[in-house]
Amino acid sequence: MALKRSLILFLMLILLLLALVWFGTSLCQETRAMRFQRQHMDLGTGPMGNHTYCNVMMVHRNMTRGFCKAKNTFIHEPLSSVQAICGDQSVPCKNRTMNNCYSSRYPMSTTLCVLRSRPRPPNCTYITHPTIKQLITVACDGTPLGPVHFEP
Ligand SMILES: *[C@@H]1O[C@H](CO)[C@@H](O)[C@H](O)[C@H]1NC(C)=O
Ligand SMILES: *[C@@H]1O[C@H](CO)[C@@H](O)[C@H](O)[C@H]1NC(C)=O
Ligand SMILES: *[C@@H]1O[C@H](CO)[C@@H](O)[C@H](O)[C@H]1NC(C)=O
Ligand SMILES: *[C@@H]1O[C@H](CO)[C@@H](O)[C@H](O)[C@H]1NC(C)=O
Repeated sequence: MALKRSLILFLMLILLLLALVWFGTSLCQETRAMRFQRQHMDLGTGPMGNHTYCNVMMVHRNMTRGFCKAKNTFIHEPLSSVQAICGDQSVPCKNRTMNNCYSSRYPMSTTLCVLRSRPRPPNCTYITHPTIKQLITVACDGTPLGPVHFEP
């Protein structure tokens, strides 16, 4: 009887531990919306307009770990303006795995980073294309609806 009771207690302890681990990892996990912000949002924290911008920012935003991300666009607008795109014009997504794409109503300030040929991780060197204003398209998801993917 005592054995049975301690066995039940033990099992409950295991379950509790599993629940804690699950809760902990789900708290730490980066959501798609957070990932979008890490990869695409920069309201002038980096050396904007500088040819080293992409080299600095791609490392700083963890896109050079294990492999060098080939292409990435940074948006230099307030987060609220980019989130507001999700209420703008609905357009078809170019990326077939995405749906729910929206195009911005007005041009936004962006910088395109393109990996130089023959990269050698962890040394990923990028060409920083001059900052331009362009209409941008994002895929939106989640509640509240927010950008989760940038359409190049
Ligand atoms: C570019 O930015 C880096 C870091 O902010 C700075 O050290 C460097 O002097 C800048 N280069 C030019 C050409 O402005
Ligand atoms: C990059 O990764 C490191 C280590 O995992 C983390 O501490 C840091 O916050 C990350 N940077 C960004 C911008 O997410
Ligand atoms: C479509 O988007 C997914 C997720 O961002 C990405 O992994 C994939 O490479 C994209 N496909 C194309 C053709 O761009
Ligand atoms: C990375 O760059 C550093 C400094 O420029 C250099 O010393 C190192 O050899 C490079 N590593 C690779 C793998 O190219």
